[in-house]
Amino acid sequence: MHYGADYNPEQWPEETWPEDVARMREAGVTMVSLGIFAWSRIQPSEGEFDFGWLDRVIDLLHEGGIAVDLATATASPPPWASAAYPELLPQDENGATYWPGSRQQFAPSSPVYRRLAAELVTAIAERYAQHPAVVMWHVNNEYGCHLNMDFSDAARDAFRRWLADRYADVDVLNAAWGTNFWSQRYGSFDEVFPPRKAPYSLNPGQMLDYRRFTSDMLLECYLMEREILRAAGATQPITTNFMGAFKPANYQQWAEHLDLVSDDAYPDPNDPESFRAAAFQRDLVRSLKPDVPWILMEQSTNALNWRPSNAPKAPGQMAALSAQAIGRGADGILFFQWRQSRAGAEKFHSAMLPHAGTETRTWREVTELGAQLAALPTLPGGGRDAPVALVFDWENWWAVEASDHPQNRLDHLAVVQRWYRALHRRHVQVDVVAPERVDDRYALAIAPLLYLLRDEGAAALTSFVQGGGHLLAGPFSDVVDERDAFRDGGFATRLGPLSGIRVEDFGALVPPDAAPGEPGEREARFEGVAGSGFGAAVGTLFAEEIEATDATVEASFTSGRRAGHPALTARRAGRGVARYLATVPDEAGVQAVVDHVLADAGVEPVVAGLPDHVEAARRGALVTVINHGGDPVDVVVRGTDAVSGEEVDGVRLGAFDWAMVVGR
Ligand code: GLA
Repeated sequence: MHYGADYNPEQWPEETWPEDVARMREAGVTMVSLGIFAWSRIQPSEGEFDFGWLDRVIDLLHEGGIAVDLATATASPPPWASAAYPELLPQDENGATYWPGSRQQFAPSSPVYRRLAAELVTAIAERYAQHPAVVMWHVNNEYGCHLNMDFSDAARDAFRRWLADRYADVDVLNAAWGTNFWSQRYGSFDEVFPPRKAPYSLNPGQMLDYRRFTSDMLLECYLMEREILRAAGATQPITTNFMGAFKPANYQQWAEHLDLVSDDAYPDPNDPESFRAAAFQRDLVRSLKPDVPWILMEQSTNALNWRPSNAPKAPGQMAALSAQAIGRGADGILFFQWRQSRAGAEKFHSAMLPHAGTETRTWREVTELGAQLAALPTLPGGGRDAPVALVFDWENWWAVEASDHPQNRLDHLAVVQRWYRALHRRHVQVDVVAPERVDDRYALAIAPLLYLLRDEGAAALTSFVQGGGHLLAGPFSDVVDERDAFRDGGFATRLGPLSGIRVEDFGALVPPDAAPGEPGEREARFEGVAGSGFGAAVGTLFAEEIEATDATVEASFTSGRRAGHPALTARRAGRGVARYLATVPDEAGVQAVVDHVLADAGVEPVVAGLPDHVEAARRGALVTVINHGGDPVDVVVRGTDAVSGEEVDGVRLGAFDWAMVVGR
């Protein structure tokens, strides 16, 4: 179990470093991520490297028994680089430049950025690949975080090459993007531009490819650094820190290139439900690489600096969220950062060692957690424990939120998380996976909004149902192929026959949170038919016009223009069941539908009978229970307490208390 933080010793006089190491030992720190933003200190000018200070700090850490997750330092190019090579600066869709003065001011496809980054990483790798302190490599930092998309000339040139690779023949691109529409036909790849500011709607196929390209350019930067590290003889695991459901980078494609997944998460202490969003994020990152424990590379010990109002964490909340990460598959808990900065944009951001010193609640909680983690035995692997698959897919996310749709006010992630919350409230273990990953290990799969469905995904979902799985597909699903174009034969050409329904139209509703005076239907109520076991609920966003061609109608709309028509259908197919839901229920409605399908699929909770605010997660034989609410609760779990080693027969949890129990 790793425990530690980003360590930025370059922000401090060298005399501070020995105290840092001593304090780290006191706090139980085992590993630090070193030098993430140290490029300008490692390379003061082009061709000149200063490794003396880094040698000394690495040796000091090593002598203190603190391992190093060594950064490649490429996330913030130094001022000399932007001054000498302004062409490495990224641009927005209007051609405005992102200037230096902050961080991440580089165009990922810029040849000169890549050359400079390669020179830096080569020097670092050759110097430290064999250093015994270095146990892991931290490539760059949060790729794409601030700069979601770059539209510079470097991007233009790289996009043209990327398209030529993907399509080989420009007429294949013309067909994929449907360029006969609006006279967009290309004669060569060199006529294509990035989707910069244009008079009106951009070509959706081009937009989707630009999202793929953007993710690929960031991934190429990662892969370049990874290859340099390996070529220099580095054998340690290599990672880069993810940010959960981060739209610009398709982590489902990236994960295979990381030896282990690491993730940064900052749930908002002002939001009493943010622990559920955090649980979703943990489950998503675990599902990216289920057989290798991930690490929480960054969280905060206490308040942040970057939200409009940065509340402190409640007493015990930091440890509770750490336990949540471990319970959901993490083998490391790290923070941003070790010692609170005394200058710069993040000086108000909390750290393990606060500016106010060690006589603080933060320091007490940090050292207490360090001791608890040190007491843990090696934890079970886990990663394959979930009976439920929640379908979430980056390409679909990109496509479903494109413009010019029946419903243009769709927050895809918000809808997916609503389904996740309903499962979480029932204490059911969930994997968050692309449709291709749905297989017979799961009893139930829920695909809330699977607008873009690849043939492979459709095939996996179909054989899942045939083999005995229960599938629930939401509205606006199976609408387009991977080019964002309709398939022949209408809508839902794959899931329609499987579910025994036909989709005629999407019936967009005005979102419930629209401005008060805005005309239009905002909700479509629906109710279970007699004997269905389903009650009444409220639908939003869509009230699709569907016809049950070969399915049982379980619930019908009872209000609005679709009153009397099917809302929820079920069809036995092979050994399983395929359901289709023609609307996006509100929070209570999603809960009602989830309860209905969980019961029908026979899915059991990790721990039965828990209240809403107590969560339970399974990791092999390990069960983690956490009380995120204020009232104490008694939880029935039996086994060995992983921290104390004592046998327990039930635990009592006060506010933010948690327990990890290895079952008998
Ligand atoms: C991100 C970055 C860190 C730091 C934190 C602040 O996660 O990776 O360098 O800026 O945010 O919360």
